[in-house]
Amino acid sequence: MASTVFIAKESHPDESRVAASVDTVKKLIGLGFEVVVQKGAGTASRIPDDAFADAGAKLGTAVSAKTADIVLKVRRPSDAEIKNYKKGAAVLAIMDPYGHEKALAALAKAGLTCFAMELMPRITRAQVMDVLSSQANLAGYQAVIDAAHEFDRAMPLMMTAAGTVPAAKVFVMGAGVAGLQAIATARRLGAAVSANDVRPAAKEQVASLGAKFVAVEDDEFKAAETAGGYAKEMSKEYQAKQAALVADHISKQDIVITTALIPGRPAPLLVTKAMLKSMKPGSLCVDLAVERGGNVEGAIAGQITEVEGVRVIGYNNVPGRLATSASQLYAKNLLSFLETLVDKEAKVLAINHEDELVKATMLTDGGKIVHPNFGGSDNAKGDA
Ligand code: NAI
Repeated sequence: MASTVFIAKESHPDESRVAASVDTVKKLIGLGFEVVVQKGAGTASRIPDDAFADAGAKLGTAVSAKTADIVLKVRRPSDAEIKNYKKGAAVLAIMDPYGHEKALAALAKAGLTCFAMELMPRITRAQVMDVLSSQANLAGYQAVIDAAHEFDRAMPLMMTAAGTVPAAKVFVMGAGVAGLQAIATARRLGAAVSANDVRPAAKEQVASLGAKFVAVEDDEFKAAETAGGYAKEMSKEYQAKQAALVADHISKQDIVITTALIPGRPAPLLVTKAMLKSMKPGSLCVDLAVERGGNVEGAIAGQITEVEGVRVIGYNNVPGRLATSASQLYAKNLLSFLETLVDKEAKVLAINHEDELVKATMLTDGGKIVHPNFGGSDNAKGDA
């Protein structure tokens, strides 16, 4: 019998995304799966129940999960949710596992085979499954839109009969996926954009988007730049020079957008209260790392707060602020991974434990935590 896929309505109050789109439901049904969508699952992403039903899904309630072999979610399911899941079911979600070992133990105890989508390796084959990229890209865009919304001035240079409005100065800290999209978006709005990153390779990407890279470009920097894509520990002297340059630069900015994250660790503090104090009245910060501890001193998760006269925007779940786009891309990420976990002939789950994608993302299986980063030893042996 074909496997049943359950699309859950997210229970977290901050979550507006959904783990399926009309398109992915059609594809799952095309592959021969039964699809059950929990009523209201798509509402906040503007996908009405009828649209899922028209695509061929059955509509159900939370307890419909009891029959599912595969559960697709945005966030890790709560203890209450997993009570409805069948032992042996596969659950695909952004599991946020670090620091949540108790929750992982509960997932293991429930006999679920859980996959953390955010641990997907960043290899070419898995690009289409990369939820960090699909969601960070939208977050970077939305950070600029949120800043523009709060800003009391125009972003582009405007030369009018009544006078000239200067272009807003936007500084993006961290030039990964979110940062690069923030740069591109701020440029489209006509701002004068600069950026930095600890990875010297980011310099070229920043420049290619028409923004200025802010770094002390001495011999040490140049050596690090040619050494490859990854950040290496710079000397204390270099770090001090770079910190002074960044502090001076921030004092001249209108908007600072911070996007710096270190996988599995708290976000680095980049903007201190002293730096905020040096900014002009009306300046803004957007802290995209606020849920991971924050890049901006004094930022509060879920709030716009004023710190040293600067408004610091710390929205939670920024991708969820564009839920329709975020769900569409996330759903595609999930479908692409799920396709690697099933036997398309038999239309059932057929997990290949030797697949590097499975090894990297599988957290729990057979009643145990199996991922080595969380105390397990069954998968990804030696290649965590
Ligand atoms: P991330 O979200 O973990 O971090 C964001 C950025 O913050 C990174 O560029 C990081 O270097 C930077 N950062 C960390 N500490 C910092 C500090 N103290 N000051 C300034 N910046 C700091 O990273 P993300 O966006 O997930 O990806 C980072 C890199 O991985 C990028 O080069 C990206 O192009 C690459 N990537 C590769 C993929 C692939 O090969 N399939 C897919 C996605 C990203």
